[in-house]
Amino acid sequence: MKVIKVKNYEELSRTAATIIAGTILSKPDCILGLATGSSPVGTYDQLAAMYEDGILDFSHVKSVNLDEYVGLDGSNDQSYRYFMNKNLFSRVNIDIKNTYVPDGTNPDADACCSAYNTLLENIGTVDLQLLGIGPNGHIGFNEPADHFEAGTHCVDLTDATIQANKRFFASEEDVPRKAYTMGIGNIMRAKSILLVANGKNKAKALAAALKGPVTPQCPASILQFHPNAIIVADEDAMSEL
Ligand code: GLP
Repeated sequence: MKVIKVKNYEELSRTAATIIAGTILSKPDCILGLATGSSPVGTYDQLAAMYEDGILDFSHVKSVNLDEYVGLDGSNDQSYRYFMNKNLFSRVNIDIKNTYVPDGTNPDADACCSAYNTLLENIGTVDLQLLGIGPNGHIGFNEPADHFEAGTHCVDLTDATIQANKRFFASEEDVPRKAYTMGIGNIMRAKSILLVANGKNKAKALAAALKGPVTPQCPASILQFHPNAIIVADEDAMSEL
């Protein structure tokens, strides 16, 4: 793993966006694996600015997102589809038909997950997978567990994740209890992985992911086995390393 330590969130966002831009510039029809949460928002701002400046062209880019809350459709402002449209897709010239997010409106978990696995198999290898990290070490919505789950699956969100994500919802009761997420196998198949982490509340999880044992109790620790993983983290997130 290559670890890039940056001063603050702004530098993190610029660094991550530069790495993603490099992928798009070297392969205009690349497949990007994208993430939600507050961590990549600044990265998306930077990418949108590079598009505005005429540096980037997204017209041949395809994207697959990591996860989606079960029960929320794309018009719900807490859904990850809505997040992606707002923070990136509507700001660049990506063809929305080439952007994929698991279908949170499908109540049939098996059907939804197997359709997403089929999509991932058919679309081709993800060139670069962007990740955040949960305070409990989750990636996508792969929560700490007793084994790594390979494919797209339905998860019961842990209380820690519900607590961490309730800040985005009107109340804790509104946080969905389930999500569809790419599995660890789906994520690890990407040619390269870029994880961004900022803030003190990520310090423990990041230390466990980078220096602890590789264990499903800290899903992000699997990245130690990826041949081309880059971690961009600010000083606060690196404070326990
Ligand atoms: C969410 C998402 C993850 C994200 C994580 C961290 O639960 N499913 O993909 O990386 O939380 O979020 P944040 O960046 O807001 O701290």
